Amino acid sequence: EETLRLRPSLLRWYDENKRTLPWRDPPKSGSEEDRAYAVWVSEVMLQQTRVVAVIDYYNRWMKRWPTLRHLSDATQEEVNEMWAGLGYYRRARFLLEGAQSLVKATEFPRTASSLREVRGIGSYTAGAIASIAFNEPVPVVDGNVIRVITRLKSISSNPKESATIKAIWKLAGQAVDPSRPGDFNQAIMELGATLCSVTNPNCSTCPLSDQCQAFALSKRSSSMKVTDY
Ligand code: ADE
Repeated sequence: EETLRLRPSLLRWYDENKRTLPWRDPPKSGSEEDRAYAVWVSEVMLQQTRVVAVIDYYNRWMKRWPTLRHLSDATQEEVNEMWAGLGYYRRARFLLEGAQSLVKATEFPRTASSLREVRGIGSYTAGAIASIAFNEPVPVVDGNVIRVITRLKSISSNPKESATIKAIWKLAGQAVDPSRPGDFNQAIMELGATLCSVTNPNCSTCPLSDQCQAFALSKRSSSMKVTDY
């Protein structure tokens, strides 16, 4: 199986086009653990909510609880109140419970596999924190990444099936740039959220169109569309 070679084009596109978001390029003054906390909060908020809607919530949250220790002193009621409108309150409870257990730990977990042991941190969040805050070359797979990879490789098996998702995690893991894992993962998510959208992909400006199998097939066959993937 040929692996994905996306790094140079994808990272160049990201460097030139990435959105300015409050959880990117945080002040250098903070510790690595403060940065991990900021990534964690933003990624949990982003799991079921679009970027534009998250920005306000994220800024208010970080103003009130700027570090893990601050959050660990909050109550469930305070956290729920801050979360109101974002939905899926279980996510807010996991953040609070996670903060309470992490401040008791002797060391902040710095790898995806050790992060996964924290209650409420699954593969997605663990990969995001480990790669973005600690530069571990591990993949992150969300709905956007599934769509980008499915199209690149013209994978036609059901992307909701666990075998397909497993194969996509593997491909994503091989594709991650070990020199910039956090940027690589954010770039592929961002591409899926912007150009490689569900119904109206902008293939003409996509940095990966020359290696996209769905795009190649759609050019060859009048009945095939990129959106069939
Ligand atoms: N979607 C979820 N997390 C993201 C991130 N860090 N960058 C871009 N899109 C995202």
